[in-house]
Amino acid sequence: MNTGRSRWRLAASLTWLLSASAAVAQDGHAVSVANQTAEAYTQPIPALTEAQRPAFLKGRSLVRQIWVIPPSENREIAGLGPLYNRISCIACHAGNGRGFAPDRPGETMRSMLVRLSIPGADAHGGPLPHPVYGDQLNENGVPGVPGEGRAELSYTERLVRLNGGEQVSLRVPALRFADLAYGNLPDDLMVSPRIAPAIFGLGLLEAVPERTILQMAAAKKPAGIAGRVNRVWDVAQGKAVLGRFGWKANMPNLRQQIAAAFVGDMGITSPLFPRENCSPSQSACLAAPSGGTPELTEQQLDDTEFYHLALAVPRQMNADNPGVQHGARLFRQARCAVCHVPELRTGDFPRLPALSNHVIRPYTDLLLHDMGEGLADHRPDFHASGREWRTPPLWGIGLAKKVDPNAGFLHDGRARTLLEAILWHDGEGRASAQAVKNMPPPDRRALLDFLESL
Ligand code: HEC
Ligand code: HEC
Repeated sequence: MNTGRSRWRLAASLTWLLSASAAVAQDGHAVSVANQTAEAYTQPIPALTEAQRPAFLKGRSLVRQIWVIPPSENREIAGLGPLYNRISCIACHAGNGRGFAPDRPGETMRSMLVRLSIPGADAHGGPLPHPVYGDQLNENGVPGVPGEGRAELSYTERLVRLNGGEQVSLRVPALRFADLAYGNLPDDLMVSPRIAPAIFGLGLLEAVPERTILQMAAAKKPAGIAGRVNRVWDVAQGKAVLGRFGWKANMPNLRQQIAAAFVGDMGITSPLFPRENCSPSQSACLAAPSGGTPELTEQQLDDTEFYHLALAVPRQMNADNPGVQHGARLFRQARCAVCHVPELRTGDFPRLPALSNHVIRPYTDLLLHDMGEGLADHRPDFHASGREWRTPPLWGIGLAKKVDPNAGFLHDGRARTLLEAILWHDGEGRASAQAVKNMPPPDRRALLDFLESL
């Protein structure tokens, strides 16, 4: 009899099965967390080692730091301004989450900014900054330096009727400037109001191989859906590369995105952007004291980058709830998954090996799509046209309002709910929005339950 042998075989195959499923489970679990609190976006990946923890904590304190106006005793945190939008990163990315649009005219923009440019392109094919106001409206200035002005949003409401009788009101935004301190803005000025996106999980998106993104761009898609990559200027390498971050994939990598935020949003120079963002005619800005050359050290930039790389993604909740599973099927049927690609795989990522070779579920293709006239900002950003936006990742989106009850959706925060965000889809997303409008109400509920579970 060889029962011993077959028992061994059975045990071996069971071990194989167990280890195979453990490998899959471990995959996501080394880089995701089961946290559903308001702190869900601030957790380090479980795979973070003790040796890496100090850099993570230093980066975290820089992101939470309230920066001070130079000159100051404390050189480490001096450098705010001369022109700036907010005094800390988390003033816009509260809880590492997304921002929101002001509700009423006259209300200031608290977690969003307005990009500016004039027709034409700069030497690298990027937007051409306004000669005085630059490429972003900075609402605030240090004492003696006037802030550039304010941007206000007002809305008209548009009713959309859904199958089943429900009516949803969409806010159509209009932008106007007030209190401009450096002269009028020209009629052909191009503007793009954008809310802060959430900043967790970006290391994993950076670890997705370029090859994968190019394959998604080339893949055959249902009629009416395309998807292109942006090509943007990499300042450190001095060449054009694939764009990944920002609402129009207008930034090449996390490090440049972070350094650009320091200088553009807070007036803090760094080794990557050593010049203050004062234009030649902003003389008070040019004459203001500096907090160091540059104000952010290479080490501080390294730590801030490391913090971003090592932020975990919250895991999906209630994935086996039948309603959620039904919603996941509807998500595919309504073609959402063509752009919001559920599953990607990271490649080798030497800078933080723990991020290498994971199956991740970000629900994005990182590609640009024409989303129609209603969402257009008419402001090209490198290869992205005025109608194109990068598919935003949907992971963790169900926790957005828990992290900040005000959290808004879509690039300018016009959507107050996930349903509003979907109903705005037009252009390449038109058939999806139509499918959701036509769904029987219980199906629409299931789709939203699925999104809320992410
Ligand atoms: C005034 C509000 C504001 C402040 C302050 C701010 N950000 Fe942002 N952040 C934004 C907006 C808006 C975007 C999208 C930019 C775009 O699409 O061009 C963004 C994008 C990002 C992204 C890319 C996210 C993605 O998914 O593509 C990162 C990372 C980021 N910010 C980090 C920071 C850091 C670090 C700081 C502090 C140094 C900071 N931000 C300060 C508003 C802000
Ligand atoms: C053609 C590609 C495409 C398809 C199809 C598509 N989306 Fe989107 N989705 C986008 C893009 C691009 C944006 C960003 C638009 C903007 O900000 O103006 C977006 C934004 C969103 C947002 C808001 C995300 C945020 O961070 O604010 C949600 C929610 C969303 N989509 C869900 C869906 C659902 C559900 C479906 C299917 C019913 C769907 N999308 C179909 C490309 C697509």
